[in-house]
Amino acid sequence: MTSTDSRTARFPFPFPRDQYRYSTNVEPAGNPTDTVAGSWGDTRIAIDDHYHRELAERERILTADPSRHQCLPHMVPAAWDAMLTLMRTLAAEYPDTMTLERRANTWFWRNDLLGIEHSFVFGDLTTLPAPPLVYICGQIQEDVVLLDQREGALWGDAGLVTFAADWSFGFDVGMSFLEIHGPVPRIHTEKIITRAHNFLMRLEPRQSYRRTNWTLTVDGKLDTSTETYPEWGKDRRTLADGPLAEVGDRLFLRTEVQHLIRLAHSGAVMFLIRTYLLPLRDVASVPEWGARLYKVLEDLPVDMAEYKGISRTREPGMRWLAAHGDVEL
Ligand code: HEM
Repeated sequence: MTSTDSRTARFPFPFPRDQYRYSTNVEPAGNPTDTVAGSWGDTRIAIDDHYHRELAERERILTADPSRHQCLPHMVPAAWDAMLTLMRTLAAEYPDTMTLERRANTWFWRNDLLGIEHSFVFGDLTTLPAPPLVYICGQIQEDVVLLDQREGALWGDAGLVTFAADWSFGFDVGMSFLEIHGPVPRIHTEKIITRAHNFLMRLEPRQSYRRTNWTLTVDGKLDTSTETYPEWGKDRRTLADGPLAEVGDRLFLRTEVQHLIRLAHSGAVMFLIRTYLLPLRDVASVPEWGARLYKVLEDLPVDMAEYKGISRTREPGMRWLAAHGDVEL
């Protein structure tokens, strides 16, 4: 299997129907979901062929802009809890390459994919080469947000996010879950977000759920944060004004697989965002996917398309799919 095939085979195609609307679409985590091209979701943390490239990209972004990592002072215990939980999960899901052991007060961590062997004392920052979230996010492709639960609400008080799709974690840090979702159309009147909020506040220790979200991204850029808008914003126009022939390779379906995990010690909710990008050429190589994406894009209401930032790109995307996919017009 070539790398292109395996990217398609593992791609979390996000549309169960020809029409997409917002919903509180959560399901238990850790179960494989079959697609017509393969399957995804058997693990909570997903390591794939892009591991080294994406980690190098994260390091580059973080060095250029350290504000992508935020940890309000009361969240330090939650950051340690998150790091250890992620190490335990990696060791359980990737036993051939990841090991976590404890002897007395000391933890031993080994990540053979990166050649890391390190011992640390939980909670003692002097025993880690970087703050806990920075250390562990240097070893997973997921972005992480930690939500504190207090005063009957959830607060996005810590995290490390380098691959945001058109938002800014530095701007959102310290906001409540409801405030963070303020800009999203429809979900407030439709009570989607209050339902999600209540659901998350009831999560029990170690319980984990997942959901997907999606958008279209030009040129496969992982970092489309608000901060770097001047670097990527114009891509939408150059795609829309450029030759149709380029759209299949320049426009990507971007799926986020988001995990929601209650941390056992700190009580924080850990939110993992894993971003997958598949060019329309590969989407259309699976005829059902090309046809379905066309229909979803055609049907998507204007307010949702605008919010997702795909008003300019969805039409070229549809035209390209109509010319190259199995689309009935
Ligand atoms: C069951 C849980 C959740 C549901 C149903 C939900 C729902 C949504 C929806 C529908 C959108 C719009 C996405 C789009 O059109 O592309 C959105 C955006 C967003 N969500 Fe969530 N979400 C959930 C959990 C979370 C959590 C735990 C966080 C962590 C802080 C989060 C942070 C965000 C952010 C930052 C945005 C972008 C907001 C902006 O434009 O500034 N979500 N969410």
